[in-house]
Amino acid sequence: MAFSVLLLLFSLAFLLSNPTWVCGNGELRALMDLKASLDPESLYLPSWTVNGDPCGGYFEGVACNEKGQVANISLQGKGLSGKLSPAIAGLKHLTGLYLHYNSLYGDIPREIANLTELVDLYLNVNNLSGEIPREIATMENLQVLQLCYNHLTGSIPTQLGALKKLSVVALQSNQLTGAIPASLGDLGMLARLDLSSNNLFGSIPTSLAEAPSLRVLDVHNNTLSGNVPPALKRLEDGFLYKYNLGLCGVGFSSLKACNASDHVIPSRPEPYGAATRDIPETANVKLPCNGTQCLNSSKSNKSISITVVIFVVIIAMSAIGILTFTLYRRRKQKLGGSFHISDNRQGTEEAMGVCRKNGSPLVSLEYSTGWDPLAESRNFNGYSQDMFQSLRFNLEEVESATQYFSELNLLGKNSFSATYRGVLRDGSVVAVKSISKTSCKSDEAEFMKGLNMLTSLRNDNVVRLRGFCCSRGRGECFLIYDFVSNGNLSRFLDVKEGDGEVLEWSTRVSIVKGVAKGMAYLHAYRANKPVLVHQNISADRVLIDQRYNPLLADSGLYKLLTNDIVFSALKGSAAKGYLAPEYATTGRLAQTSDVYAFGVLLFQILSGKQEITTSSIRLAAECSNFQEFMDPNLHGRYFEYEAAKLAKIALLCSHESPFERPSMEAIVQELGNCSSCL
Ligand SMILES: *[C@@H]1O[C@H](CO)[C@@H](O)[C@H](O)[C@H]1NC(C)=O
Ligand SMILES: *[C@@H]1O[C@H](CO)[C@@H](O)[C@H](O)[C@H]1NC(C)=O
Ligand SMILES: *[C@@H]1O[C@H](CO)[C@@H](O)[C@H](O)[C@H]1NC(C)=O
Ligand SMILES: *[C@@H]1O[C@H](CO)[C@@H](O)[C@H](O)[C@H]1NC(C)=O
Ligand SMILES: *[C@@H]1O[C@H](CO)[C@@H](O)[C@H](O)[C@H]1NC(C)=O
Ligand SMILES: *[C@@H]1O[C@H](CO)[C@@H](O)[C@H](O)[C@H]1NC(C)=O
Repeated sequence: MAFSVLLLLFSLAFLLSNPTWVCGNGELRALMDLKASLDPESLYLPSWTVNGDPCGGYFEGVACNEKGQVANISLQGKGLSGKLSPAIAGLKHLTGLYLHYNSLYGDIPREIANLTELVDLYLNVNNLSGEIPREIATMENLQVLQLCYNHLTGSIPTQLGALKKLSVVALQSNQLTGAIPASLGDLGMLARLDLSSNNLFGSIPTSLAEAPSLRVLDVHNNTLSGNVPPALKRLEDGFLYKYNLGLCGVGFSSLKACNASDHVIPSRPEPYGAATRDIPETANVKLPCNGTQCLNSSKSNKSISITVVIFVVIIAMSAIGILTFTLYRRRKQKLGGSFHISDNRQGTEEAMGVCRKNGSPLVSLEYSTGWDPLAESRNFNGYSQDMFQSLRFNLEEVESATQYFSELNLLGKNSFSATYRGVLRDGSVVAVKSISKTSCKSDEAEFMKGLNMLTSLRNDNVVRLRGFCCSRGRGECFLIYDFVSNGNLSRFLDVKEGDGEVLEWSTRVSIVKGVAKGMAYLHAYRANKPVLVHQNISADRVLIDQRYNPLLADSGLYKLLTNDIVFSALKGSAAKGYLAPEYATTGRLAQTSDVYAFGVLLFQILSGKQEITTSSIRLAAECSNFQEFMDPNLHGRYFEYEAAKLAKIALLCSHESPFERPSMEAIVQELGNCSSCL
């Protein structure tokens, strides 16, 4: 009897001296508060439990630093539909908060400003409203501020100008009003500023135009007015300003010159009251204890448990404990609807049952592990592991870049891949091609061999592969290419008069030359590069950059794909007339079959038409009657001798017999001669 009383008292003393049972450490409590508001129904974060260890590896999306402090929270695209709680301020050592692509609503709590170590703040593509907190000015380590695609109102805080490390600020597609703060020009590291599709007015501050690192400034689709600072010309294609009726300036295409009166436009932000925001309801719910009190009580509990031999004290403590516990239970029942309390209860139950039984320690790690085959230090036929490492992106980067593969960024799709536009953390724009793993070669060594080759391609007319990432979790591989801004060549075919851009003759000639050079490069054997057949030359795979240079896309892509996928792509080529006839008999593709496709492409460029009936063109060309198939949109504005020469080359290239077709190298030379006659 006496023994069991002793046991009871001991266990009570233990429970009371265990700080996590009473209310947890500061960070755990902040996480639990955060969970209660982010995920009020506890649908998505069951792994966050009140008795758990946030750094134990099984809190989904939570990563800790080496000191055991919560450093990153990555819950992008998790379907969260709650609010962001002011409790976030309790995670003082947070460096990355990634909550983009959810359905969070409500304000951005001003307490977020307490996160002075935060480097990345991604709240983009949510339903957040209210103003951007002015207090944000204290987040001195902030480098990336992503708040785009929300419903934020008010003006852009001038205080942003105090955040000297900011390099990317994305506020587009909100309902921001007021002027662009001139203080943004003080940001020495600012590389990318996107303010497009808001309701901003006033002029573009001259100081901003002079920000030394600025490479991209997107202000399109606002109601800006006044003189555009001439210094912005240096950004070239990086300055986007369309759909601002009031802007004027000299030296910018599509802007009218300014009137004298255009120069003086007030650019002071309107005084929006940040003080009148609603305090989120979570702030009103009192927990049994707060930070300082908890600390004290857990300390005293500890010392008590050390001097546990003093029976009287234990009894006193136990009495208090029982009393507290009963009161707590009662209060809990009374406040059953309040989510803090009910969450605590839920968390405790989970911690004791479900979670301990089958908690998977890996759930939260999917984002940072990247791709396993490479993580292991295997050697693929001597390919440099270092080179692969430097080209590897992690999934988080790819997800952030594409805003969690947002439909808004979808550039195109086909049967085995989807391509998204993305912006990397350094502000550079990329195209991310995602390929389902089931479409990738199943033999890993072969896949790596193909990848090695693709990453080694370097030519002005071949789209550069910047890196890759494969995720077992998503079952996809991603190829990250430089983004080419002007679409593909198909866009310039079948243009109806007055509805789309007609390529001038000289542009067409230079595109033909560029494509030929890119193909000649692929076909050539170099010390570090084997001969590569493209296999899929078509107008869709000739991308056009801002300066109308052509770049070949998907070069060698088939090296990564299963035979089924390659075959179905070939069927696509055949349907469009690019597939060389000998494929039907030999079943093989060589350089000469690429040359055939080049011939067809050349006919398309000359005629301006996607659909070409080879027989009619052949007839016309054979009778040197090429005028008949020349693009009528050119209105005869082309050099006949050049057109005749290109038509002849097209004809040769698309010869039935592969042996009659010239090599790409020879074509490049022939076209080079052509330029001398320009
Ligand atoms: C937090 O995220 C950043 C950026 O992705 C990363 O560099 C850093 O290593 C992460 N920290 C931890 C502790 O996981
Ligand atoms: C987010 O906002 C949009 C538009 O206001 C609305 O259609 C959608 O239902 C909202 N989503 C949530 C989860 O509140
Ligand atoms: C946030 O920081 C301010 C000033 O540094 C401090 O007074 C306040 O208590 C902090 N809030 C939280 C919730 O930590
Ligand atoms: C301009 O912004 C509005 C919303 O503010 C959006 O609906 C529209 O698509 C945008 N237009 C362009 C061309 O970006
Ligand atoms: C100035 O602007 C007004 C209206 O915007 C226009 O009517 C006038 O012709 C302009 N004057 C000059 C000198 O461009
Ligand atoms: C905790 O509560 C005490 C007393 O109510 C208060 O003085 C203190 O500021 C609170 N601490 C925090 C971190 O909220």
